[in-house]
Amino acid sequence: MTSVAILPGDGIGPEIVHEAKRVLDAVNTRYTLGITTSEHLFGGTAYDAHDTPLPDSTLQACREADAILMGSVGGPVYDKAPRELRPERGLLRLRSELDLFANLRPAMLFSELANASSLKPELVAGLDMMILRELTSGLYFGEPRGIELRDGVRTGFNTMVYSEPEIERIAVRGFEIAMQRGKRLCSVDKMNVLEVSELWREVVERVGESYPDVELSHMYVDNAAMQLVRAPKQFDVIVTGNIFGDILSDAAAMLTGSIGMLPSASLDAAGKGLYEPVHGSAPDIAGQGIANPLATILSVSMMLRYSLKQADAANAIDAAVSSVLSSGLRCRDITGDVDDKNLSVVGTSGMGDAVLDALNHVA
Ligand code: IPM
Ligand code: MG
Repeated sequence: MTSVAILPGDGIGPEIVHEAKRVLDAVNTRYTLGITTSEHLFGGTAYDAHDTPLPDSTLQACREADAILMGSVGGPVYDKAPRELRPERGLLRLRSELDLFANLRPAMLFSELANASSLKPELVAGLDMMILRELTSGLYFGEPRGIELRDGVRTGFNTMVYSEPEIERIAVRGFEIAMQRGKRLCSVDKMNVLEVSELWREVVERVGESYPDVELSHMYVDNAAMQLVRAPKQFDVIVTGNIFGDILSDAAAMLTGSIGMLPSASLDAAGKGLYEPVHGSAPDIAGQGIANPLATILSVSMMLRYSLKQADAANAIDAAVSSVLSSGLRCRDITGDVDDKNLSVVGTSGMGDAVLDALNHVA
């Protein structure tokens, strides 16, 4: 038996996860995968019900599951909650408790969506890159952290910290992923200013000695941000720390026309993973039935591929999504040229229906 813990979360989370679960159920039956699912409260909805964004029962279910599918967490209504209890903290704790240190954020452009990008189509056509973000250390988790009085002045502080083993394990992942792709790895740091980056670069270089087939390069994070919007196709795999990866992955996602299209995986050393769309909870459109479920549906595909080793089912979902896009169906966020008469706009469940229908037609 394979078990998947499902955490719908907040905002548009429940709506998009609902569609993703329908797709998971369909491939589960069709490929007799023997997957059982269970749903758990997480994020703001858990805080509302149990005064904590990550109830023990949810954490326990995630520990026991073979993989986790998440919608999204957070929303402005929780900004006033104590910092320790905000939905985002629940997500950070879940990543940390399960040691999900390797965050894979692919940015690939579906050819049908080249017009939805804010960059010229020729700059992004065929884009297919992967950002590997370290997810359980760095500025997000470093100690000391806090807000305190220093000589009578309120002062906020965080610490950017990476140990050699932490850098080594994410670097190894980076090289391994590069080996399976275009064999080019760009490590992004801020070595000209930060000691933590000095160590980062040294360790990445050292790990690289074991991967002579991978072309390793280094880039400062500010330059990387510029290069991403100047000539994004130069990248194959980027490996970087937690905060840089957070920022660069949003920029990379937008290159593809819609952050509403991109899945992500957060893996531990054994390959167990948490799968979630790159986008957030979009509280402004929650409950309206217009959110794009494709990033979450593609997260299911990633989960089948990386954690559950069901490549056939994953390929079927990817093919179904491509065929739906080719047929001209779009959610509002990816309409690009809205005057295009060949496109028709559907809502969340309409998109889910279309993917299910397409699944019946792919080999
Ligand atoms: C992300 C998000 C999270 C992060 C937030 C919600 C804590 O922005 O997954 O990129 O900063 O890691
Ligand atoms: Mg982010």
